[in-house]
Amino acid sequence: MKAIRITGYETEPNLDDVSQPVPASGQVLVRVRAASLNPLDVKLQRGYMEQFFPQTFPYTLGTDLAGVIEQLGADVEGWALGDQVVARTEPTAGGAFAEYALVPKELLAKAPSTLPLKEAAGIPTAAGTAWQALFESAELTEGQKVLIHAGAGGVGSFAIQFANCVGARGIATASGSGLDIVRLLGADMGIDYRCEDFVQKVSDIDVVLDTMGGETQQRSFEVLRSGGHLLSTVMPPDETLVAAHNVTAGFVFHASDGQRLARVSKAIDQYGLQVLVDRTVPFTEFIQAFQHQASGHARGKIIITFD
Ligand SMILES: NC(=O)c1ccc[n+]([C@@H]2O[C@H](COP(=O)([O-])OP(=O)(O)OC[C@H]3O[C@@H](n4cnc5c(N)ncnc54)[C@H](OP(=O)(O)O)[C@@H]3O)[C@@H](O)[C@H]2O)c1
Repeated sequence: MKAIRITGYETEPNLDDVSQPVPASGQVLVRVRAASLNPLDVKLQRGYMEQFFPQTFPYTLGTDLAGVIEQLGADVEGWALGDQVVARTEPTAGGAFAEYALVPKELLAKAPSTLPLKEAAGIPTAAGTAWQALFESAELTEGQKVLIHAGAGGVGSFAIQFANCVGARGIATASGSGLDIVRLLGADMGIDYRCEDFVQKVSDIDVVLDTMGGETQQRSFEVLRSGGHLLSTVMPPDETLVAAHNVTAGFVFHASDGQRLARVSKAIDQYGLQVLVDRTVPFTEFIQAFQHQASGHARGKIIITFD
């Protein structure tokens, strides 16, 4: 089968011919229809995540996939051949950018029935992180105001939609045509991060979802109400600012989890949510797609197909 692998940190991803893996006990083999890129794939390739996710080489890139169960290992109940699934593999294992991938049963979820598998591949990390941050950490509820940085990105595009699901007001930063995108996704307000200052535009925010870090994170404390929450997907918040603004704050470390993914999948069906797709390309065009992901300006998810 074909797999996109690296032989070490900073090495160019290669399209290799490798043996099809065999599921061990507790694993399934998924015929991958599509997989999606995340900033994490770029960070893994560059070696930035070595401390958290040590890789062994050659390493098959990719954590997010959608496909069909091809083979069941021993001790896998509740799943059948042909089931349409989504999964996020453990980043140390990777393996999604390949024609077949091994997935431990606890990381599997039923794919949404309202989306084609090619779009569903965009769900696992981005939607899972937005869900974990907004609902498990911040406990976002009806009537609250949430400021979502990078609303036209992978995490942000799901966060806007999740906020709507619970009747919260989403306000998103974006730029250019990204402003139209965030409004179409359901944001109450879009703020152009290139020419507007979000601190001047909003106040009394209940929850900030920080996907940028740095100055964006520091300044976000200024818009929170007392008792509000800041959740960052990029860096631990500054405790001095947390105390000074009388808020709570935390770093969101997204954990692969089939049960959470199943809740996300169900919500997508229930509320008719969409996956914002930047582009869909065949695996033969992986390198250009990877470079686009690395630019930090993808508008939603970059999907790689393996049909
Ligand atoms: N801790 C975790 O477990 C975890 C999980 C998931 C993601 N993350 C991290 O969270 C970050 C976001 O992930 P993602 O998947 O959403 O990334 P992404 O899809 O690559 O985000 C791209 C978007 O960011 C926007 N953007 C760039 N600079 C901006 C700025 N200064 N202000 C507002 N928007 C800006 C771009 O808009 P323009 O094109 O208009 O510039 C683009 O739409 C990444 O660093 C990722 O590694 C961490």
